[in-house]
Amino acid sequence: MASHTLSLSTLTLLLLLSLSHAATPSAPAPGPAGPINITAILEDGSQFTTFIRFLTDNEISDQINNQVNTSTDGMTVFAPTDNAFSNLPAGTLNKLTDRQQIQLIQYHILPKYYDLTSLLTVSNPVRTLLSGQDDGVYGLNFTGQATQVNVSTGIVDTLINNPLRQKKPLAVYQVDKVLLPAEFYEAKPPAAAPKAKGKGEVEAAPAPKPSKEKPADDSSDSGRMMNVGFGLVGGVGLFCMGMLF
Ligand SMILES: *[C@@H]1O[C@H](CO)[C@@H](O)[C@H](O)[C@H]1NC(C)=O
Ligand SMILES: *[C@@H]1O[C@H](CO)[C@@H](O)[C@H](O)[C@H]1NC(C)=O
Ligand SMILES: *[C@@H]1O[C@H](CO)[C@@H](O)[C@H](O)[C@H]1NC(C)=O
Ligand SMILES: *[C@@H]1O[C@H](CO)[C@@H](O)[C@H](O)[C@H]1NC(C)=O
Repeated sequence: MASHTLSLSTLTLLLLLSLSHAATPSAPAPGPAGPINITAILEDGSQFTTFIRFLTDNEISDQINNQVNTSTDGMTVFAPTDNAFSNLPAGTLNKLTDRQQIQLIQYHILPKYYDLTSLLTVSNPVRTLLSGQDDGVYGLNFTGQATQVNVSTGIVDTLINNPLRQKKPLAVYQVDKVLLPAEFYEAKPPAAAPKAKGKGEVEAAPAPKPSKEKPADDSSDSGRMMNVGFGLVGGVGLFCMGMLF
């Protein structure tokens, strides 16, 4: 009887030890690498607040995040700095219609991933997200050598520098000028424009909807942890009672 009690208390002790181990809140296991978030990448650069606002107001950021997740082509984004926006001639943005402001942002995005080296060998002009949506080519031309690559719209030419991210499926490069499409300022699209791509090839952007930022869900895990803890205590209690009777 004494030995039975002893072994029971030893067992209980062991159970309690294992319980205390199991109930110790451990750091959550790191999940799979989070999805790519263009806004977070740009926030790291901390000088892209205007561009971020345009991207999020028009849900283009969602479109980018979805597309880099689902398409095999990936994407390339040219992010003008806040300085680039403030250096625009006064009234430039205000003279654009709402639709043109969205188009301006789409013009800064290529529906394909390019590292800097591959931009040197592309065949110009390169399609943007805006190409095929409207009259005009809305392409970008890339020139340069070695690690110096320039992007040209026909009216704006600037060096591409400082990759914020250069890893498939998303490349993000800083540009110090806003890439204004020549097509916005031409009475007619150039007659010598290359033929539009086949319809099937064109991934037209969905019509942008106005949106408000949704606050992040801030629910805590501690309540669930407590429930798990009580469940374990109860289970061990029942188990010990089973040993006694
Ligand atoms: C992306 O990052 C921004 C800024 O960090 C955050 O506000 C937003 O909720 C994130 N979006 C997603 C889909 O995680
Ligand atoms: C990414 O794509 C997969 C499969 O298409 C989907 O299940 C998942 O929810 C997507 N993730 C995000 C963050 O969009
Ligand atoms: C872009 O390059 C193409 C092919 O070289 C050329 O025909 C076109 O004029 C260029 N456009 C601009 C805006 O530089
Ligand atoms: C690249 O852009 C910079 C800045 O706009 C300019 O000074 C330079 O001449 C351009 N280089 C080429 C090869 O077009």
